[in-house]
Formats: sequence, structure tokens, C-alpha cells
Amino acid sequence: TWTAANIAESLIAKVRDQIGDGHAICGLSGGVDSAVAAALVQRAIGDRLTCVFVDHGLLRAGEREQVQQDFVSATGAKLVTADAVEVFLRELAGVSDPEEKRKIIGREFIRSFEGAAAQVVAENGAGVDFLVQGTLYPDVVESGGGAGTANIKSHHNVGGLPDDLEFELVEPLRLLFKDEVRAVGRELGLPEEIVGRQPFPGPGLAIRIVGEVNQHRLDLLRQADAIAREELTSAGLDKQIWQCPVVLLADVRSVGVQGDGRTYGHPIVLRPVSSEDAMTADWTRLPYEVLERISTRITNEVAEVNRVVLDVTSKPPGTIEWE
Ligand code: XMP
Repeated sequence: TWTAANIAESLIAKVRDQIGDGHAICGLSGGVDSAVAAALVQRAIGDRLTCVFVDHGLLRAGEREQVQQDFVSATGAKLVTADAVEVFLRELAGVSDPEEKRKIIGREFIRSFEGAAAQVVAENGAGVDFLVQGTLYPDVVESGGGAGTANIKSHHNVGGLPDDLEFELVEPLRLLFKDEVRAVGRELGLPEEIVGRQPFPGPGLAIRIVGEVNQHRLDLLRQADAIAREELTSAGLDKQIWQCPVVLLADVRSVGVQGDGRTYGHPIVLRPVSSEDAMTADWTRLPYEVLERISTRITNEVAEVNRVVLDVTSKPPGTIEWE
């Protein structure tokens, strides 16, 4: 019979078989899949797994801590953090085009990951032969090329496999669907904030700043995003929403009146969507009281934002993200 406990046991045994007494490395993205894959491998081989987390500075508030504290304390995994914030900011400077942003982020992510991996390899005399990936069954099917969906955006999954790394892949979740992965993650004792996490794109906040990315804009967006998430969660709406991108229209200004005077600030867009698989989506009809709270708080608490607007476009024609 299918129980999360049975599945976890058999996956752990399979990993143990594959890796033997070797060493493995696993990139953590902050998402569910890589966290559950890492937790399984940790159970199988303990300290012979090293997790690598690349902080590219495009994360949401609290995400780094979630990996460094919550994940580590739930699993006991060995973790190395590559601090790449400066590099990413430098490489993204002056770039507004969404696909260009994705390319840069994909490239720099691989560089940072490889750098950290090389260090882990150097510190392990025995060598590190295995790379753990959180590939799910739908990913396997998709990359088999059967589905034939047009590649609208170059979805560069941060955490993707560098082509020229000489590792053998360990993909313990290859036969699982997302809800099964979550069940296994709970079974392994991962906290709900990690296991129940909504999708978040690999390129992070960089593709939610329409315009050039810089530290200041990232800080504004991070604050607005944290407020929206807090209010949606406390209103009990997380299950109803697939994800809610919060977007900073950094190159748009509009006139407002705040405090004693006229302001000339930026709009924040709320993009709550309901979906089954992100291929199509509908905009979520959020309660007005919740929208009101989010709007009031963002305009009061986030400097330079004087307007909050709601995106009421379904997908298609709009994509979920703005870029
Ligand atoms: P769109 O905007 O294409 O998004 O409707 C569909 C889903 O994919 C996520 N998304 C990405 N995920 N790298 C990712 O890892 C990307 O470049 C990327 N672009 C979009 C988006 O958040 C949604 O869940």
C-alpha cells in the first residue's frame, strides 16, 4: 500500500544502493523538490552529503534563513552557502530584458554552484561522485519532449544541471508527483513552510522588477512581497492561491498624495492566481478586505510606492509572471 512512510523507506534504500559509500552534493533552491530530495539522501548517507545553497540576492525575505536554519535543523544536513549577491548585482546591472536576465542568472548560478562544488570536492579527499537533483515525474515526461508545448519563455531552472559537471545523477523523486513529494517531505519531518511552499521562479525577484534590477529596487520589492504574503497567509488564503507574484513597475511613476504632499512613486502589482499546473491560470477573486489591508500596508510601509494595482488577467493570455 502507498504510504508516505513506505515510499520514503524504499527511496532511502535505493539511494543507499546507488551511492554506496560515495559522497554526494545537492543544490538547494529553497523550493520543495530540492529540499525533499536532499532530506532523503541525508537519511540514506548522512554526512557524506553536502548541500549547497547559492544566495544570489534575488530571494524573498527570510528565504536564506529558512534554508540555513529551518532546513538544517529539521534534517541535520551539512550545508555550504555560496554568497553570490555582489556578483549577481554586478552582472544584472543595466539589464532590463527578461530573457537576458534569465540568461545571466542561469549562467552565474552555474558558476557559483560549480565554485562551491569544487570547494566541497577539494575538502573531501575521497571525491564527490554524485549530484542529487529534485527531478519529478512531470519534469521527466516534459524533457522527454512528448508534450510538444511551445517554449514561450526559456525557463531556466536555477538548480538545473550544469552540462559539463562529471557527476552521476541521483534523482530520488523521479517517479513522484508534487503532492507525493510533499507527503514524503512531511514524513521526513520537514517544516510546513518548506513542504507547503507555493511555486517561486528560479530567477526570483529579478523577473518581478519590470526594468533594471538593483539593490534598492530589490529591497522595495522584498518588503512589498513580505507584506502581501503575510496578509494572505493570515487570511488563510494560501491553499486557495497557486502563487501570488508581487511585481514592482520600477520604470513607471504615477502621482500620489501622501502625508503632506505630492509624491511621484512606483506601482506595485498583485498577481494572485489559481491554477492546477501553471499551464493555465485564473486570477483569484480575493476578498476586498484582504486587498484593502495589503494595499494600505504597502503604501504606508514601503517607501516610494504610492499605488497598488490588481492584475485581473487569466492565463492565457497573460502569463503568471510579468516577465
Ligand atoms: P508563466 O509566467 O510562464 O509561469 O506563466 C509559469 C510558472 O513557471 C514559473 N516560472 C519560472 N520558474 N524559472 C523558473 O524556475 C523561470 O524562469 C520561470 N518563469 C516562470 C512561474 O512562477 C509559474 O509558476
